[in-house]
Amino acid sequence: MAPQDKSRKPAIAARLLEWYDAHHRELPWRTAPAALARGERPDPYRVWLSEIMLQQTTVEAVRSYFSAFVARWPTVSALAAAANDDIMKAWAGLGYYSRARNLKACADLVAAQGGVFPDTEEGLRTLPGIGPYTAAAIASIAFDRPAAVMDGNVERVISRLFRIETPLPQAKTQIRALVEQMVPATRPGDFAQATMDLGATICTPRRPKCMLCPLREDCDALAAGDPELYPVKLAKPEKPLRRGAAFVAVRADGAVLLRKRPEKGLLGGMTEVPTSGWTARLDGETSPDAAPFPSQWERAGQIAHVFTHFTLELDIYRTRFDGNPADHFWSRPDELHGEALPTVMKKAIEAAIPGATKHKAGR
Ligand code: ADE
Ligand code: SF4
Repeated sequence: MAPQDKSRKPAIAARLLEWYDAHHRELPWRTAPAALARGERPDPYRVWLSEIMLQQTTVEAVRSYFSAFVARWPTVSALAAAANDDIMKAWAGLGYYSRARNLKACADLVAAQGGVFPDTEEGLRTLPGIGPYTAAAIASIAFDRPAAVMDGNVERVISRLFRIETPLPQAKTQIRALVEQMVPATRPGDFAQATMDLGATICTPRRPKCMLCPLREDCDALAAGDPELYPVKLAKPEKPLRRGAAFVAVRADGAVLLRKRPEKGLLGGMTEVPTSGWTARLDGETSPDAAPFPSQWERAGQIAHVFTHFTLELDIYRTRFDGNPADHFWSRPDELHGEALPTVMKKAIEAAIPGATKHKAGR
């Protein structure tokens, strides 16, 4: 059947919702379909927080961060009252740190409006950190607005159902139009989350479990026998490689020397061990001469970390050191775990001192 055939779409949405009632994932930010049916309303704060965390980040990675955040800051006003540094520390390891900075800015604005989130896509779009995807997700999940929620899962499911030959990203316009025709007037939030769950558990990128799929009778790609060919994607250019050095200085009591990165730019406002430059393209050999102070630096291996736009290789150097260089601070072994260290910096420290970032205070 051709994608322009509108008659099948309400039936697809209904089958998807029925499947979701029985097979939805239980996630700490979710209000289950049965609870919604009893009249329970989702908490917009929890929906917002979870959708920000879920941008570019897997459900499994988000779970524990989400639970820790809502336990510590149960309302948007509580989050607005928090110190920026505490939010950055609690976010450390989740990646894309501009999200944590925008989180605080958004919480401040919403708290100033009495702790009430706007309840439309347009209103939500005016807030920091909320783009088209997140506005649509919050509007549909928290406020029952029939918004078209577009994420990677939705794109995959729709492009298979309608066997869309246009490659991504151009196909997004076509996919959005199909989603808009499909969103039901009731339960739009469950519809969005049902599509996400189907994409995550059944209609997976590799080896989709079509025999378990509630939409197997509706699916053009399954009928043609080639679901894995969709969505068609333009070949991505390979990520450039950047190289640099990271310097792990250890004091006699085991403390590690750290500093704060500038507020602007990559990993802005987060904590790091001193590093050579690596935001500019750099290849070839590194040397301890790039350290912020001279010492008996010895090589302690190499780590790699993949960022959105490049891969970074860091040569790790380690030394024993007791000074107090300007703009640096010492973090004791029981403090290190609580610092605002992004994953790349935890890897660098672990290469020099195995286990150092895993200790929790008081243990
Ligand atoms: N990914 C982004 N938002 C989600 C949600 N509400 N449920 C599951 N996965 C998601
Ligand atoms: Fe995806 Fe297969 Fe279901 Fe089609 S039948 S939507 S390809 S899981």
